[in-house]
Amino acid sequence: MNIIILAAGQGKRMHSNLPKVLQPLAGKALVSHVIDTARQLSPQTLCLVYGHGGDAVRTTLDAPDLAWALQEPQLGTGHAVQQALPHLKGDGTTLILYGDVPLIKTETLKRLVHAAQDALAVLTVELVDPSGYGRIVRNAAGRVVRIVEQKDSNAEERCIREINTGIMAMPTSRLGEWLGRLSNDNAQQEYYLTDIVGMAVEDGLPIRTANPENEWEVLGVNSKVQLAELERVAQRWTAERLMEQGVRMADPARFDVRGELVCGRDVFIDVNCVFEGKVVLDEAVEVGPNCVLKNARIGAGTRLAAFTHIEDALVGPDGMIGPFARLRPGTELGADVHIGNFVEIKKTKIGAHSKANHLAYIGDAIIGSRVNVGAGTITCNYDGTNKFQTIIEDDAFIGSDTQLVAPVTVGRGATLGAGTTLTRDAPPDTLTLSRAQQISKTGWTRPEKIRK
Ligand code: UD1
Ligand code: CA
Repeated sequence: MNIIILAAGQGKRMHSNLPKVLQPLAGKALVSHVIDTARQLSPQTLCLVYGHGGDAVRTTLDAPDLAWALQEPQLGTGHAVQQALPHLKGDGTTLILYGDVPLIKTETLKRLVHAAQDALAVLTVELVDPSGYGRIVRNAAGRVVRIVEQKDSNAEERCIREINTGIMAMPTSRLGEWLGRLSNDNAQQEYYLTDIVGMAVEDGLPIRTANPENEWEVLGVNSKVQLAELERVAQRWTAERLMEQGVRMADPARFDVRGELVCGRDVFIDVNCVFEGKVVLDEAVEVGPNCVLKNARIGAGTRLAAFTHIEDALVGPDGMIGPFARLRPGTELGADVHIGNFVEIKKTKIGAHSKANHLAYIGDAIIGSRVNVGAGTITCNYDGTNKFQTIIEDDAFIGSDTQLVAPVTVGRGATLGAGTTLTRDAPPDTLTLSRAQQISKTGWTRPEKIRK
């Protein structure tokens, strides 16, 4: 099988510098959804017809399994398919998809391709409001005879509610000859792919139609309004799949996956959470409201409180993170770790049962198990030029408002007094302090207000 994806159109109505087919839907370019669906069918050739925004489209999407056909200028859908002809292989079926119809399902395409055995198969749908689309014209016997574009149609044809979605499949061996016979003698002076339907009828080839299970599978994106509508459709679909697998959601309408979200049993997701890249939530994880997670794995039973922000990080099981915690790239937390409000962690490993509950910055550090990091602790990891590491061994206690000037090590079981500025290693099982001595002056009085 060959698959051709038409993606040369301009998309004027997007009012954007980004080519239409590269606009993101659920975190992925519109046309990438189509490419990924096409790959599910394992085609011999997967050819993209590109034109508008050509360089950007090609460099963004380039992959070894894609063939590229430049269409310049764009003279219509038939002309677009013509550009792909040199790439087509074998005498099987060719399937034509649109780069701006992102939510088409593999199952629907399989049915269409099946219908195209020694026939031309068109994916059609009946719409309450068919305006703008090409209409499927059938004869008295109910057989498809041709497709007429809205701009070329008469009043009677405009009443037809069955429309051409644009997605078609046909025997590859016939395609070249049909396309060679196209003319642009029509209202838009374009070479219409749809005219091959009439030709197939003349050649005595049966025309079959298939329909998508859901109307939204064949909706195209021409404007930012339609883009936002399809975004909600895509998110709703993802939410339903997850709920079917046992995820509980406070509100599937306030939920966004921009990548892949994998969940274990009994996961709970509160409102307004965003999941980007690949995120894995193990069994019974609870995600509070307004959390943002990107490329992260959260261990079983861990609770993320509201407004937690996690990127490129691993969180162990039974943890308590947030509210207002920020785990930055390279964070790896063991089991039962507690990270509280306004704590920022970067490129740091923290062992089991350790806690940093309030207001801290921990960067470039290795922290052992059962360590308590007091409020206001800062690892001074950066001297303005280079970054250095802080090591805190098991069972250490870091007093509040401590600065650890890296590179520095706090030994096993050590205690740092509050307010310590640690510039040399702290020995194990010892109290280390760095404070000016506390004095109380007798006879001191508060200054008096100066009278003018
Ligand atoms: C086309 C169909 C119409 C169908 C409708 C469904 C034709 C003549 N008409 O109409 O029957 O109901 O789609 O949405 O086929 N493209 C190119 N090169 C071109 C022109 C278009 O690559 O020269 C691509 C576009 O990027 C887009 C697709 O083909 O992905 C459809 O183009 P569009 O202009 O939207 O087609 P319509 O006129 O709406
Ligand atoms: Ca269109």
